Amino acid sequence: MLLEDVKIINLPKIEDQRGNLSFLESNNHIPFKIKRTYWIYDVPGGFARGGHAFLEQHEFIIALSGSFDVIVDDGKEKKTFTLNRSYYGLYIPSTLWREMNNFSTNSLAMVSSSTLFSDDDYVRDYDQFLKLKGI
Ligand code: TYD
Repeated sequence: MLLEDVKIINLPKIEDQRGNLSFLESNNHIPFKIKRTYWIYDVPGGFARGGHAFLEQHEFIIALSGSFDVIVDDGKEKKTFTLNRSYYGLYIPSTLWREMNNFSTNSLAMVSSSTLFSDDDYVRDYDQFLKLKGI
């Protein structure tokens, strides 16, 4: 996949004086069936997460609280997406290198994935990633 396949997806936002509500449905708001959801929190200032690509899994990342940056790289170019609202998220298909940094205090990153956890799906070596991309 390439950088142009990565996209911000807006989710429904039901505004109410009692507070707002957003939601996402598998295969509806996001283009895959969710098999797993995990979240990243309590990231100390200055630390980064990610730093790998996935062979198979697609992901959708939302800043449920606070903000952080997601840097996506297809081997040729990189793009930074700042996530700071709970009513949109970033869709990242497979075979793209990603890093998350610039976490604000108390930020909460929720990630929905198209696969169950499998360590074999990770590409953690950047040179191996470039080989995979034929670069
Ligand atoms: P990792 O995906 O490397 O974290 P990040 O990309 O956010 O920096 O995962 C960190 C550790 O957690 C690693 O040992 C694998 C484990 N893990 C699971 O057991 N299940 C999961 O669903 C995820 C995402 C990670």
